[in-house]
Amino acid sequence: MMGTYPAFRHPTFDSRRSKLSSLQNNGAANSSLQGKVALVTGASKGIGAAIARELAARGAAVAVNYSGSKAAAEKLVAEIQSAGGKAIAVQANVADPDSIGPLIQTVVTKLGPIGILVNNAGVYEFGPIEAVTPEHFHKQFDLNVLGLLLTTQAALKHFDPAGGSIVNISSVAAGGIGSASVYSATKGALDSITVALSKELGPRQIRVNSINPGMIETEGVHAAGFIGSDFQKQIEHETPLGRIGQPQDVATAVAFLASTDSGWLSGQTIHAAGGNRV
Ligand SMILES: NC(=O)c1ccc[n+]([C@@H]2O[C@H](COP(=O)([O-])OP(=O)(O)OC[C@H]3O[C@@H](n4cnc5c(N)ncnc54)[C@H](OP(=O)(O)O)[C@@H]3O)[C@@H](O)[C@H]2O)c1
Repeated sequence: MMGTYPAFRHPTFDSRRSKLSSLQNNGAANSSLQGKVALVTGASKGIGAAIARELAARGAAVAVNYSGSKAAAEKLVAEIQSAGGKAIAVQANVADPDSIGPLIQTVVTKLGPIGILVNNAGVYEFGPIEAVTPEHFHKQFDLNVLGLLLTTQAALKHFDPAGGSIVNISSVAAGGIGSASVYSATKGALDSITVALSKELGPRQIRVNSINPGMIETEGVHAAGFIGSDFQKQIEHETPLGRIGQPQDVATAVAFLASTDSGWLSGQTIHAAGGNRV
């Protein structure tokens, strides 16, 4: 007899269950970047390379921008392609305003309208106030700030009409670290730009956020002599999670901001620094 009864249906429960299942399905779909085109500046090495790899693994077609490291960029593209992903390498010096237009044009022609822009290319040159020169200032501001603004401006002319996500790679240095006044200032400016552009671009459904990493072990940090230094030990000591970061620690946070999992976040600066606040 039991088997002949129709399955018990409770309208409220069923409606909740169907909402939950649709939420779960959306969750799976949101973290996917399938069908999106992403441009990552400065992606031949370090943090940018890890971001490009992560976005491609989640389904985005990725433009790997580099300035001088052609072989490294092409190796990364080959790695992404052999894993079944889509990527191209595009040379452009983002500190040179004349090379930004052609960079964006190449990306759009080869991959389509941009839905994810990761402004990662940046330089860091530390030094006390006595070492500040116009060259030291312009080297960092021309790439970290002006290059970011002009890349964003050019990309916006070809952005996906449905909207998208811009992620700026800032730094905990935005709060000001000793013997790095100019670098800190570039990242402080970048955080202001993130908030300003989030207000300006919100009506176009373009979210703008930044990730502010602590020390991350990259080629650049090795070249700067930070690895194995007292500076590294001091940072590890001050970091609640007890270590410096790896590029992948930043890449997954960027993928979150690139996806609609973070669809209600804009104008945010997220510290990816193991709990360390400089
Ligand atoms: N590593 C850290 O501890 C740390 C912490 C906080 C924030 N950050 C920020 O994270 C970003 C990446 O740092 P990283 O440590 O990964 O750097 P990195 O290891 O030195 O790599 C820099 C990347 O940027 C590219 N690049 C340099 N100048 C460029 C230009 N003018 N135009 C286009 N690409 C250019 C390089 O390409 P080529 O080799 O082809 O020139 C390379 O792919 C920077 O914005 C940095 O300020 C880093």
